[in-house]
Amino acid sequence: MARLDGKTALITGAARGIGLAFARAYAAEGASVALGDIDLARAEESAAAIGPQAFALRMDVTDQASIEAAVQAVEARGGIDILVNNAALFDLAPIVEITRESYERLFSVNVAGALFTLQAAARGMIRRGQGGKIINMASQAGRRGESLVAVYCASKAAVISLTQSAGLNLIEHRINVNAIAPGVVEGEHWDGVDALFAKYEKRPRGEKKRLVGEAVPYGRMGRAEDLTGMAVFLASSESDYVVGQTYNVDGGNYLS
Ligand SMILES: NC(=O)c1ccc[n+]([C@@H]2O[C@H](COP(=O)([O-])OP(=O)(O)OC[C@H]3O[C@@H](n4cnc5c(N)ncnc54)[C@H](O)[C@@H]3O)[C@@H](O)[C@H]2O)c1
Repeated sequence: MARLDGKTALITGAARGIGLAFARAYAAEGASVALGDIDLARAEESAAAIGPQAFALRMDVTDQASIEAAVQAVEARGGIDILVNNAALFDLAPIVEITRESYERLFSVNVAGALFTLQAAARGMIRRGQGGKIINMASQAGRRGESLVAVYCASKAAVISLTQSAGLNLIEHRINVNAIAPGVVEGEHWDGVDALFAKYEKRPRGEKKRLVGEAVPYGRMGRAEDLTGMAVFLASSESDYVVGQTYNVDGGNYLS
């Protein structure tokens, strides 16, 4: 028997990258998976590539009505057993150049988006009375500040804190809330990060990405698939007694 047989998962920001890898892994473990993303066309393409157990939903985690519509659409198929709060934005600037617009954009997706999606899913889980699993995507960036990355780091520190509070608050309903803190993971997200570092550190494109990859103790950047083992564990009954934790899955990067 697969570890997530009969379960239904909603993953935000699953059209590409880490969320998409989690959707593939959950489907391979027997779950039905909703790929919620602001980019519906890409989410539909990704769901079709996974197969009939995956489906796409347009979802903007900054919009309460959109969160509720997406949660209801998945609940209409029998209920949400697993939520992954994965959608996030990145930005980079020296402290004196940070704009209020950048701060509000990042916090509305990375923090408010995660909190209010978690809340909507948890309400449904409590009504059904069968518990549930909620996994928030944090980051090594939430473990310490970084010179140019103040807003993103603060938003991921908030995710780690929310994971602790929600974990403690919801465990009486047998809802486990935990988080994963990746290090540096290959993909379109890091291509964007590299372009921003190129601008602010006056480097050629690709150099920052190469250097951070070489600095990982494991010897390379992470791949989305490096994170799926932890994502399946935290979504399965094997993690029933795990509450409010954030796990580094980073090739040793945070420690180094
Ligand atoms: N890639 C890394 O190196 C890395 C490292 C640490 C943590 N993380 C975290 O892991 C998660 C996934 O990262 P990724 O690399 O796959 O990112 P990504 O940028 O490749 O994917 C993010 C997805 O979120 C979607 N999205 C953006 N705004 C949205 C909104 N308002 N509503 C719904 N969807 C929205 C995007 O369309 C995209 O499909 C994020 O939380 C990120 O912060 C990534």
